[in-house]
Amino acid sequence: MNEATIATPITPKQHTELVDEKLVRLYFITALIFLATSMLAGLLMAMQLIRHNPLRGIEFFSPGRWRMLHTNAVAYGFLANGFLGALHWAIPRLTLQPVLDKRLSWLIYAAWQGVVGATAVGLLLGEAQALEWGETPVWIDPVAQLGLLLVAINFMTPIARMKGPMYVTLWYFLAAFVWTFLTYAMGNFIPEYVVGGTAAGAVGGLFIHDLVGLFVTPLGWGLMYYFVPILLKKPIWSHGLSLVGFWGLAFFYPLQGIHHFLYTPIPMFLQYGAVVSTIAVELVVTTVVINFFGTLWGNAGVVKTNMPIRWFYTGMIYYFLTCLQCSFQVTLTFQKIIHFSDWVVGHAHMVMFGVFSMWIMGIMLYLYPRMLNRPWASPKLLEWHYWLSTLGVGFMAADLILLGVFQGWSWAALEPWDASTDFSYPFWVLRVFAGLAMFGGLLAFLQNIWLTTRAAAADRLAQKS
Ligand code: HEM
Repeated sequence: MNEATIATPITPKQHTELVDEKLVRLYFITALIFLATSMLAGLLMAMQLIRHNPLRGIEFFSPGRWRMLHTNAVAYGFLANGFLGALHWAIPRLTLQPVLDKRLSWLIYAAWQGVVGATAVGLLLGEAQALEWGETPVWIDPVAQLGLLLVAINFMTPIARMKGPMYVTLWYFLAAFVWTFLTYAMGNFIPEYVVGGTAAGAVGGLFIHDLVGLFVTPLGWGLMYYFVPILLKKPIWSHGLSLVGFWGLAFFYPLQGIHHFLYTPIPMFLQYGAVVSTIAVELVVTTVVINFFGTLWGNAGVVKTNMPIRWFYTGMIYYFLTCLQCSFQVTLTFQKIIHFSDWVVGHAHMVMFGVFSMWIMGIMLYLYPRMLNRPWASPKLLEWHYWLSTLGVGFMAADLILLGVFQGWSWAALEPWDASTDFSYPFWVLRVFAGLAMFGGLLAFLQNIWLTTRAAAADRLAQKS
């Protein structure tokens, strides 16, 4: 690993040979379509919770199914596609090697959309597997597993072939490819076919958490280590801290899964272990956040003028807040109150949208106009996109986290269940408005993409004539 690496500059010819821009763009657009679908499903579920479900009584649109569509479409449709698009840019440029086979990349693209699309249809038809985050119908699991293997082979080949020291980004990517493959296999097959009861719960908890910690987190941070130094035009602040972050994640993250099932019949020593390793990883992530703010030090004004950097660092602030929150919520004292409450839903939105979606948005904002050779058509729409998304998710998280505390106190006081649903109502109404703001932000972004793509097409036409 090289401390001073930003990324070797490459010529336009090399870039064309290495990066399939059409595929990157397609991944991004597909990701955004899944995000829009997921948000609509989230809004439908949110309307159900305030007793205004517009599609009441239609089995196909029953809220339980759309809730699963909401979470699956966002994780496997938006985040996975967004990451795959960004990886097709970052890995060949960083290693100066093409992916194993560009045709394989296209095959993976098509197969992955088949997997996510079939999952959506399977869920809506009521074929879900009874496994949180592994609801993908059982007949799709082997195909998804094979897809993950192909992704790993396609991307690990250029990393294996590269010459010279390996930058920290590639450490994260290599780990993510191996971990994601193993995590998916563990979560989707072991509880279904091998173990049952509490043991299946323990494995399920590990699966849920490892999906965030060993799939989304290493890809997210790996991409930040790649894009932030390029945009700020300086190397990352501390090579030593980037090592602490990587090895700390590798060591502590896989031990935490059971923190999803505290106060259950799972042996207490495992629950205590999960609590301690969760707090430990929060300390580790603090070092990573410090490293990135150290890199920004002296350039803070860039946040105003450089949109991708603004999204990246907003995501990092949400990351720090999520982790801080997590080190409290993981304690048994907090769990007594907030377990099963809306606090958890607030936490989930803050991390999934406030952090990883923000990073993917920032990457799209940076790469999309570069690929079209044209700046964004509307800077105003960029601002709307940013502010509606940032404030929307902040508001939603604050609303639900506060509500979670009230719900927990009400249940601890043994008040009737109805009391908690009654006082939750206004909070749930506010959630609908926060969701509408986030969806509005996405619409602003989609309109900007449309305007910019159209203007680029007009530019090309003018050049030809
Ligand atoms: C239009 C915006 C959105 C609305 C209205 C919305 C609404 C909801 C609702 C109503 C639930 C179910 C809560 C429950 O069962 O009590 C939910 C769950 C969830 N949403 Fe969203 N959501 C939105 C956007 C997003 C986005 C963009 C992401 C991720 C990037 C996301 C990630 C999640 C996750 C992970 C859960 C599961 C939480 C848990 O099980 O604890 N949501 N959402």
